Amino acid sequence: MGTPGRLANLLFLSLSLAGVAQADDLRLPAGAPAAFQNECGACHLAFPPRLLVAEDWRRVMAGLDRHYGDNAGLDAPTRRAIETYLVGNAGKPKKLGSSGTAASDEAPRLTATAWFKRKHHEVPQAYWRHAEVRGPSNCAACHKQAVAGSYREREIVMPDGHRWQD
Ligand code: HEC
Ligand code: HEC
Repeated sequence: MGTPGRLANLLFLSLSLAGVAQADDLRLPAGAPAAFQNECGACHLAFPPRLLVAEDWRRVMAGLDRHYGDNAGLDAPTRRAIETYLVGNAGKPKKLGSSGTAASDEAPRLTATAWFKRKHHEVPQAYWRHAEVRGPSNCAACHKQAVAGSYREREIVMPDGHRWQD
């Protein structure tokens, strides 16, 4: 008795170990330098590397002294270590789409990729402007487990307090 359950568990375990890519699982890949969380998580969420393509991460890291109106400058060794991590774990252009800023001076935004827009096309505009959200980059305002890298739909609570799935 219990064999089917055990088989199901085994199957689940092997799928998890194989790292089957799931849209709602954006846990940080292993190997992050400590500075990634400390520096890049100081003003906002330490964004999952998979959400920008390598070229966009290079551009973010090349312009830290003028970072979306802030100065996020780092010493060269720290900057290099973080860039290596981000570029090494970057998203695939085919899946993400570019942030559309390659030809401009504007810094790339992961919230501007085709992937991000597709995932959020059902979210009414008013929510992005809500006082407790102030723009799509504030993932944790709605995804209550974003810090842990989990974006499951049942964890989403909108800024007006209603659960997305209700
Ligand atoms: C001094 C504060 C500060 C630090 C430190 C900082 N950022 Fe930012 N970052 C910002 C601000 C402000 C924005 C713009 C937020 C917005 O417009 O919603 C931003 C936006 C971003 C965006 C674009 C988000 C979007 O809208 O798609 C990325 C990517 C990003 N930061 C990456 C990083 C990385 C990588 C680091 C570490 C090397 C870092 N940030 C460190 C303040 C900071
Ligand atoms: C205003 C609230 C809000 C903000 C801010 C927000 N999201 Fe979402 N997100 C949602 C909602 C609602 C859905 C589900 C949409 C649907 O079901 O069509 C969603 C869906 C997703 C999904 C898909 C999950 C799945 O199971 O396919 C991912 C991944 C995601 N968001 C990541 C992010 C990231 C990363 C950020 C920050 C850069 C962010 N979101 C910011 C509300 C938000």
